[in-house]
Amino acid sequence: MADIRAIIAIGQRGQLGLYGEMPWEGNKNREYVADVARFFEVTRGHVVIAGPKTISAFPDYAYKERTIVEVRSRDKPEEVLSRFPERVVYVGGGPAVWDVYAPFIRHWDINRLSYDGEADRWFNPAWLVAASDDT
Ligand SMILES: NC(=O)c1ccc[n+]([C@@H]2O[C@H](COP(=O)([O-])OP(=O)(O)OC[C@H]3O[C@@H](n4cnc5c(N)ncnc54)[C@H](OP(=O)(O)O)[C@@H]3O)[C@@H](O)[C@H]2O)c1
Repeated sequence: MADIRAIIAIGQRGQLGLYGEMPWEGNKNREYVADVARFFEVTRGHVVIAGPKTISAFPDYAYKERTIVEVRSRDKPEEVLSRFPERVVYVGGGPAVWDVYAPFIRHWDINRLSYDGEADRWFNPAWLVAASDDT
């Protein structure tokens, strides 16, 4: 089985997304710029799986140094993950994707940023302790 991880940035109360973007999109403060840079560093050479909206936000250069795979609700998580037996696979969201892949994730990389404004997508702490049906 692949080494399955999650990479997430959240606000103070678990804010994840707003209007299809990061809630802090466009904020040029060092903290936010460093978070994006870190995403690219941490995932370099690895597989990133994510839903269609999250994938559509990746810039073209993101595809150069990592394997980016769009996952859909029709895909079976076990089948998707079995495609990458020797790889590190980062589950990159959004929430519906973490809902389903959380039981397979053994390492969570969560950066809690100082943002404390609006959101329409939220982190769910239950993901951290989600068990798969067969455990
Ligand atoms: N802060 C962060 O770290 C972070 C990371 C990622 C995303 N975000 C934010 O989250 C928002 C985007 O997320 P989103 O949830 O709206 O859209 P999304 O990224 O497209 O993810 C949700 C979609 O994934 C698909 N999916 C794939 N496998 C699935 C499964 N097994 N079960 C259910 N659905 C599955 C579904 O689309 P189909 O039914 O069409 O297949 C679902 O609608 C944006 O605001 C983005 O900025 C934030």
